[in-house]
Amino acid sequence: MPETTPKGLARLAFGGDYNPEQWPESVWQEDVRLMREAGVTMVSAGIFSWALLEPERGRYDFGWLDRLLDLLHAHGIRVDLGTPTVVPPVWFYREHPEALPVTADGVRYEFGSRGAICPSNTDYRAAAANITTRLAERYADHPALAMWHVHNEYGVPVSACYCDSCAAHFRRWLETTYGTVEAVNEAWGTAFWGQRYTGFAQINPPRTTPTVGNPAQALDYRRFADATLRENFRMERDILHRLSPGVPVTTNFMTALSQCDSIDYWAWGREVDIVTNDHYLITDGRRTHVNLAMAADLTRSVAGGAPWILLEHSTSGVNWQPRNPAKAPGQMARNSLAHVARGSEGAMFFQWRQSRRGAEKFHSAMVPHGGTGTRVWREVVELGASLDSLSAIRGTRTQADVAVLWDWHSWWAQNLDWRPSEDHDARERADAFYEALYDRHLTVDFAHPEADLSAYPLVVVPALYLLTEAAGRNLTQYVENGGTLVVSYFSGIVDEHDAVHEGGYPGPLRDVLGLTVEEFSPLLKGDTLRVTGPGGTELTGDVWSEFVVPDGAETVWTYADGLTAGRPAVTRHRLGEGTAWYVSTRLDAHGLDALLGRAAEDARIAPRADLPHDVEVVRRTGESGSYLFAINHSPSDAKVPLEAHGTELLTGERAAGRLAVPAGTVRVVRLDG
Ligand code: GLA
Ligand code: ZN
Repeated sequence: MPETTPKGLARLAFGGDYNPEQWPESVWQEDVRLMREAGVTMVSAGIFSWALLEPERGRYDFGWLDRLLDLLHAHGIRVDLGTPTVVPPVWFYREHPEALPVTADGVRYEFGSRGAICPSNTDYRAAAANITTRLAERYADHPALAMWHVHNEYGVPVSACYCDSCAAHFRRWLETTYGTVEAVNEAWGTAFWGQRYTGFAQINPPRTTPTVGNPAQALDYRRFADATLRENFRMERDILHRLSPGVPVTTNFMTALSQCDSIDYWAWGREVDIVTNDHYLITDGRRTHVNLAMAADLTRSVAGGAPWILLEHSTSGVNWQPRNPAKAPGQMARNSLAHVARGSEGAMFFQWRQSRRGAEKFHSAMVPHGGTGTRVWREVVELGASLDSLSAIRGTRTQADVAVLWDWHSWWAQNLDWRPSEDHDARERADAFYEALYDRHLTVDFAHPEADLSAYPLVVVPALYLLTEAAGRNLTQYVENGGTLVVSYFSGIVDEHDAVHEGGYPGPLRDVLGLTVEEFSPLLKGDTLRVTGPGGTELTGDVWSEFVVPDGAETVWTYADGLTAGRPAVTRHRLGEGTAWYVSTRLDAHGLDALLGRAAEDARIAPRADLPHDVEVVRRTGESGSYLFAINHSPSDAKVPLEAHGTELLTGERAAGRLAVPAGTVRVVRLDG
């Protein structure tokens, strides 16, 4: 069994990407002194260093990395050592220009940025295996080595390559997956528009076509591209496991749906020894702490609930969005500790020292351009001390209240072309339902639609356009056994090949929901519908409506206008021991809260009316005890009820009754007993 915690790291992880090759070695001395001052426990090094480590093919220069690791070790800092395979050196590309990836339009990218890799290229694979082997041979026993960091953020910036090598690789993948070309024709529905193939050799990647291409082919290409990246990860991981036993291997994920859409993290979570994640606030006007919580919950979920590590976030602004505001005072600590509350065993950053040159020089860092006389540095030092006082939480697990179903394959399918409405966005629904649950102070686990859901009193399905028969049976059984299910519109429509389920919508969910959907009727931009229901409540829907025909379900809210006037908008179906809700329009935050309020009653989840808005309360529990995190994102001081006495770990004070959480601060109480 591979190790699942960083070797020799006895505290929470605190540090960042350390790219000291940008500086003379005299600066390294100052770096380690400052790292100690801040309480840094681990850094990630060597991620982009291939050109320095192998300046010419077969000529290696490990001297500088030896000195770096020795220096870090001498100062008690653990190292998350990168395999630099995300940026091959220029000599490699000049020898193998076909290793540069090609777009669907046939444009071959040039060297000079990063991540320009055709994942099927065998010369790339050989070179990557070679440098990984050299590094593993040299550093497997280095006392500073805590874990291996393979590559960087698989899936970005190039999620798929459309070159001839990838075409050949895709054909092999299809042969393995389908066996015969007839099976491919069947799965892709090539009878339509005369797309029939008579041999695998005729099949290409879904390159640019005059109008919409075959949707099932496009969906399979996403699966293939994801699987190909995983092959490359596994190749490196297996080398590291063989040559460096006892040292866990990770690759940094980007689970935030706004940051990467090409990776099936359910599959990747099973491949790594430790799940690690990178997270950046998207400053698009929405509540960034809610998006952060969602990404952290998704990360923990792909880790199967096990502790994970936040490997990158930012001390302040980034530099790759149109506008990059600085973080407010205290915001960095709230962000870092929210990740910790939701299962991260620490908080690391991109990057340690802010660059003077290159593409990311305006990206914040732990040591900013302004040096140590700055607010950012003071907050970094403070965070280091806070994390130090939380060491005991290592190994504990975040406690969730409800589950939200999510499936990347369904998202990919949903995003194919020519849908009933381009305004329906699976990610938007996932965000909106998550936010509504967050505002009800419920902690969310994400789950795959075929996962065991029996632990959750409430399961929410924001948008699962693609849903297998097996998932349908799973959800039906969940309800029969007493669960409460909430399903939002345009779910259960197609099978794994993007083929519409037979027998009417919503396919395998008809029985559990007790209804059929005869027809969709998306709304025009800006149009809204009134939806009326119990006690005179009026909700608002937009984007979507449906002609729902109940078959066992009761109508709870009814469309009051539009084409669907007088028909069910929201239904409830008692089945076996449980209840299944269905909502056929896009409700706003108020509507979602009303719906979830009713569903929570069915699930016997008591409302948390005693918790103030925008005060995040999350628990981690394990052998070392039970810890309550209270994070006040609001501008007002708040009080959070405690059900037991305890010790507040950041201030060292005793806590009982109602815990004071001043505006903008974080409190972590270790409950007695
Ligand atoms: C990603 C990368 C880092 C850096 C940051 C900047 O997460 O892994 O190398 O580019 O983004 O936010
Ligand atoms: Zn390629």
